[in-house]
Amino acid sequence: MDTSEPKFTREHVISLRRWTDNLISFRLTRHRGFRFVAGQFARLGLTSDEGKAVWRAFSMVSAPYDEHLEFFAIAVPGGEFSGMLSRLAVGDEVLVDKQAFGFLTTDRFKPGQDLWLLATGTGLAPFLSILQEPGIWDDYAHVVLVHSVRTAAELTYRDELSELDQHPLVGERARKLIYLPVVTREPHPGALDARIPALIASGELARRAGLRLTPEDARVMICGNPDMVRDTRNQLKAMGFALARRAEPGQYAVENAF
Ligand SMILES: Cc1cc2nc3c(=O)[nH]c(=O)nc-3n(C[C@H](O)[C@H](O)[C@H](O)COP(=O)(O)OP(=O)(O)OC[C@H]3O[C@@H](n4cnc5c(N)ncnc54)[C@H](O)[C@@H]3O)c2cc1C
Ligand SMILES: NC(=O)c1ccc[n+]([C@@H]2O[C@H](COP(=O)([O-])OP(=O)(O)OC[C@H]3O[C@@H](n4cnc5c(N)ncnc54)[C@H](OP(=O)(O)O)[C@@H]3O)[C@@H](O)[C@H]2O)c1
Repeated sequence: MDTSEPKFTREHVISLRRWTDNLISFRLTRHRGFRFVAGQFARLGLTSDEGKAVWRAFSMVSAPYDEHLEFFAIAVPGGEFSGMLSRLAVGDEVLVDKQAFGFLTTDRFKPGQDLWLLATGTGLAPFLSILQEPGIWDDYAHVVLVHSVRTAAELTYRDELSELDQHPLVGERARKLIYLPVVTREPHPGALDARIPALIASGELARRAGLRLTPEDARVMICGNPDMVRDTRNQLKAMGFALARRAEPGQYAVENAF
C-alpha cells in the first residue's frame, strides 16, 4: 500500500469568466499551504472521462495574498487539456500541485528606473499578479505593461487595470502604470499595430511610453509566445541588455507561456 502523501491538493472552481470563445479565466479554492511569489506558475490537473489526470502549467493571475487562485487560459483547438478546460464548470474539481514553480519574479533584478512587462496572449497572466504586488510600485518610477493580441476582443483585464488605483494595497501609486495595448490583426483605435520586437527596434514602444528603453533604466520581463520571447530577447541583447541570473545581475527575464 502506498502511504505517501499526494503531491497535490483537490481544489474546486469558484467562478468562471469567458472573455471570448477560447479565452477563459477561472478562480479556484486555495489550500492554505499553497505559497507562491508573484510571477510563478502552478501545475493544474484535470481528470479525463477515463479517469486519467492531465497536468499543465498555468501562471497565477491572483496575488500571493489572495484567498483564491485565479488563472487566465486559452483553449487551443485540439489540445488535450484545452478540451477539458472548455467544459469546466463551477464546482468542478481541479488538482493543484502543492509546489509553485518559475523564475519570472522581480527579485531577479537589481533596482532600475522603470519596469517593463511585455506579454502576448495569455502571457499577460503572471504580470497581473506582479502588478498587485505593493512593493513594485515603490521600487520603480514607472511600470509599463504591453499586451499584444491578435484581435481587440482579446485585450482582457482592461477594467481591472484601469481600476488598479482603487486596489486597497496598490492605490494611487498605480497611476505610474503605462498600459500599451497592441492589436496585430485588425485596426483598433489607440492600440499599437506591430509585433513587440519590431516596436522595440523602431523605437516606437519607448516613444509611446515616453521613456528610455535602455539597460541603464529598464528592467524587462517577457512572457508569451515562444517565438516572440526569442525575437524580443535577441532584440534586447542587440541593445546591450543581459539576462538576469541568480548569481549575475542583468536587465531582462523571460518565460515561454507554452
Ligand atoms: C511555464 C508555463 C506557463 C503557462 N501558463 C499558461 C497560462 O497562464 N495560461 C494558459 O492558457 N496556458 C499556459 N501555459 C500553457 C498550458 O500549460 C498548456 O500548454 C495549454 O493549456 C494547452 O494545453 P493542451 O493540452 O490543450 O495543448 P498542448 O498540447 O499543451 O499545446 C498545443 C499547442 O497549443 C499552443 N498553445 C498552448 N498553450 C498556449 C497559450 N497559452 N497561448 C497560445 N498558444 C498556446 C501551442 O502551439 C502548443 O504547441 C503555460 C505553459 C508553460 C510552460
Ligand atoms: N487568437 C485567436 O483569435 C484564436 C482563435 C482560435 C484559435 N487560436 C489558436 O490559439 C493559439 C494561440 O493564439 P493566440 O492568439 O493566443 O497567440 P499568438 O499566436 O501567440 O498571438 C498573440 C500575439 O502574439 C503575437 N506574436 C506571435 N508571434 C510573434 C513573434 N514571433 N514576435 C512577436 N509577436 C508575436 C501575435 O502577433 P501576430 O498576429 O502578428 O501573429 C499576437 O499579437 C494559436 O494556435 C491559434 O491558432 C487563436
